[in-house]
Amino acid sequence: MSVWAILVAAGRGERLGLDQPKAFAKLGEDPLLAEPLRRLEESSWVDAIVLVAPPGWEEPAILLTEELGCGKVNACVPGGETRADSVRAGMAEVPADAVVVLVHDAARPLVTDAVIERVLAPLSEGWDGAVPGLPVADTLKRVGPDGTITETVPREGLYGVQTPQAFPADVLRAALAAGGDATDCAALVEARGGRVTVVPGDPQLLKVTTADDLAKIAAWR
Ligand code: CTP
Ligand code: MG
Repeated sequence: MSVWAILVAAGRGERLGLDQPKAFAKLGEDPLLAEPLRRLEESSWVDAIVLVAPPGWEEPAILLTEELGCGKVNACVPGGETRADSVRAGMAEVPADAVVVLVHDAARPLVTDAVIERVLAPLSEGWDGAVPGLPVADTLKRVGPDGTITETVPREGLYGVQTPQAFPADVLRAALAAGGDATDCAALVEARGGRVTVVPGDPQLLKVTTADDLAKIAAWR
């Protein structure tokens, strides 16, 4: 079984608010991107990696993969305007004989073999995808533009989902080709009637959005 990972790192990181893209924000000594790259490279589940870099940052991204000795990185391509477009750019580099594709956010640096194993398992049982998720802990409110709460949303059955997300390669390819935008790949597969399941996520798969998140992840590392 050949497992390809698409590592999407092409976002601007507007909410982090640095001069450079989020993938090149410092996590300790190294750029943030180094951490998930190293971890995917070392994972025994991953055969090959496509890196999707911020447009104009392909060269530093390639240099970084060379410095880290990431021999599994087969291609480095510039991303698109949206996350879905960036995944499409990465998928274009995944060969037709790939069996499974894992899509992972570079903004979630602390990816582990344990979570990769959990998302891969349901694919052998016929699922069209598997994503890590954590049950929502807070009470959820829908709030109107003037700040008035309009609804308390029952939290039963609600999950916050993370990456890596795993799909049979043909399923993801077709879902991406159908077009559309979504904040994760599972939504594109679901929209075409695909059956996607949730497996236990990991609180340490926190996505770096703000400077606070960077500090937390640096401490966990
Ligand atoms: N991403 C991408 N291409 C885009 C947008 C996002 O590859 N056009 C990637 C990001 O690099 C990140 C992941 O998708 O690894 C999740 O996106 P997010 O956390 O929203 O990152 P940014 O879009 O960079 O941050 P912001 O929304 O604050 O600008
Ligand atoms: Mg974004």
